[in-house]
Amino acid sequence: VNDCYDSLAGRSKSWKSLLYVPVLVEKYLDKALNSGAEAIILDLEDSVPLANKDKAREKLSDTINKLKGYDISLFVRVNAPWRLMIRDLEAAVLSGVTAIMCPKIKSAWHVKEISNVIHQLESERGITPGTIGLVAIVEDPESYFNLEQIAVADPRILWVSLGTEDLAAELGVDPSDEKGGLKYAKFQTVMANKKAGLEPVGLVSSMANFRDLERLKIIAEDSKKMGFVGATCIHPSQVPVINKAFSPSEEERKWALRVKNLFEESLSKGSASVSMDGSMIDTPVYKRAKNIIARSCIHQ
Ligand code: COA
Ligand code: MG
Repeated sequence: VNDCYDSLAGRSKSWKSLLYVPVLVEKYLDKALNSGAEAIILDLEDSVPLANKDKAREKLSDTINKLKGYDISLFVRVNAPWRLMIRDLEAAVLSGVTAIMCPKIKSAWHVKEISNVIHQLESERGITPGTIGLVAIVEDPESYFNLEQIAVADPRILWVSLGTEDLAAELGVDPSDEKGGLKYAKFQTVMANKKAGLEPVGLVSSMANFRDLERLKIIAEDSKKMGFVGATCIHPSQVPVINKAFSPSEEERKWALRVKNLFEESLSKGSASVSMDGSMIDTPVYKRAKNIIARSCIHQ
């Protein structure tokens, strides 16, 4: 079991699949609970029309109370404009919530200000300050250049994401073209997260058609190869595809265990490099293998 955790830098949880659920659609909740998603994102932002924002906020605490006994993490996506955001946070900072997802983040300062509001609400509500995480979503070119500072802006930050659709609209590129203009930005996002010790969630390109699960599989596998550890999605049928794509394959697990055993044996004999199937196994390869083992344990 120690192998499961010691290479994840103290973090005991990362998320492979997070399903967006518009708060006001009652029938989605059961479906979401049974979807296999590791987290539900209760959405107050783009899936809720402006006229219904109040109603959605009012519904939130009941919904969270209903869901918090289940083995599934609860995220809430709030709106970016301050007047909406403050009311959203008042409604969303509740015990049982894992994190607040914050769209259209501009800078480290922006994160700090939101974190301060969360801190005040936590204190008032008997929640240990710092308990509730924050996911920063960056959606425009100017903020993109602040990625590194945003990622380290606050200890609440779980990861920083790139808002694929909004950024593509700003750039005038097709977000579903995985070889297109967003690829470099996506990889930079992985690097900024890793530099800050965070595990990035995201897909290398957008899912144009959520019913095309074959394509989702390819995109999710490519995203895992790029360093992403999970993805958000909008429909329950996407969840199993994402869970599978971001889990280590049987082949990877077997490889990792062989590497670990062989390398440790070799170390005990005084050598830090050994050959396996014609490839050199040394310290970084051993580290990568231990990461795969850690992920296998967590994602079983
Ligand atoms: N969460 C939970 N259940 C969902 C769901 C979701 N996000 N999306 C669909 N379902 C349910 C449906 O209620 C339906 O259940 P039923 O068979 O018991 O009636 C089942 O899954 C199949 O749904 P389907 O008919 O294929 O889809 P739809 O046409 O009803 O809905 C969308 C399609 C896109 C409108 C819907 O998936 C949705 O609203 N997704 C979330 C959108 C969102 O949050 N966007 C903002 C984030 S970018
Ligand atoms: Mg957006």
